Amino acid sequence: MEFSGNKTDTAQGKSSLNTSAEASGDITTSKRFQIPCCDSGDLKMPTHVAIIMDGNGRWAKKRSLPRLAGHNAGMKAMIEATRAASDWGIKYLTVYAFSTENWKRSQEEVGGIFKLLIKYVESELRELHRNNVKVNVMGDYEKIPAAALVKLKETIETTSNNTGLNLNIALNYGSRAEIIRGIRSLVQKSLQELRELEISEKNDSELKARLEEIITEGSFSRELYTGDELGNIPDPDLIIRTSGEERLSNFLLWQAAYSEFAFTPVMWPEFTREEFKKILDDYSNRDRRFGGRK
Ligand code: IPE
Ligand code: IPE
Ligand code: MG
Repeated sequence: MEFSGNKTDTAQGKSSLNTSAEASGDITTSKRFQIPCCDSGDLKMPTHVAIIMDGNGRWAKKRSLPRLAGHNAGMKAMIEATRAASDWGIKYLTVYAFSTENWKRSQEEVGGIFKLLIKYVESELRELHRNNVKVNVMGDYEKIPAAALVKLKETIETTSNNTGLNLNIALNYGSRAEIIRGIRSLVQKSLQELRELEISEKNDSELKARLEEIITEGSFSRELYTGDELGNIPDPDLIIRTSGEERLSNFLLWQAAYSEFAFTPVMWPEFTREEFKKILDDYSNRDRRFGGRK
């Protein structure tokens, strides 16, 4: 696999970005970028794109292939999407690879998905690293099969100092579980702090005032996988779902508060760079108001 924005030609890759962002290294949604690959002209690029990679099974079924052939083709599409995001200077790409609910599938399918993951992480690691991609995993991923866990930890470690695209692979990820985990942690920290301040449980008004200080949208966000653990990733600007389904399926429920959505009927294994670019084109024309007025 070849990426064009690799470590050795970063300067060349960057030269296609507009100067102010280049100087500050700040890629924000308000800046305008050119996509080097597709000479698309001026595009307002998202900082963080999240993808619900759906449709592997239906893609395989339509071709009378086993479901795992669909997952294999899906891995290739994931690599291609990563390559495109890296080439285009997108800062964060989060891909939903395995949900907390996907364990309901047959052992054969679940085992096969993790074997494929090992295979592709092994074959792509060198290229990812060479292209300055930093790989993170988000979710309760300690519970995934041991061989996959070892490979992923190695990948995270190897790429930990890279400064290009942040590729976040959501594995055994569920947003509700993430939220509950965050609440537990914040409650624990709150109790600790209240103890240190020696505030009595009976002092209702003092308790309320302290809790309002301790538990905020900001402090809660930092408890999520996307928070302190992964360096406080900005909320996704754009969430893409393939295969014609139009739902979140327990993905980034908190973080998606002001995300733009793009739904495409294309099955994930057929998601190409061109399809990705079409969606980015559409995104660049959207008017994001965040509840305010223009
Ligand atoms: C998405 O493809 C991959 C995972 C959920 C692991 P699916 O396997 O859900 O494909 P469909 O929805 O059955 O077509
Ligand atoms: C969402 O797809 C999870 C992933 C893409 C990993 P699913 O195929 O599991 O979602 P539902 O069951 O159609 O909602
Ligand atoms: Mg599906």
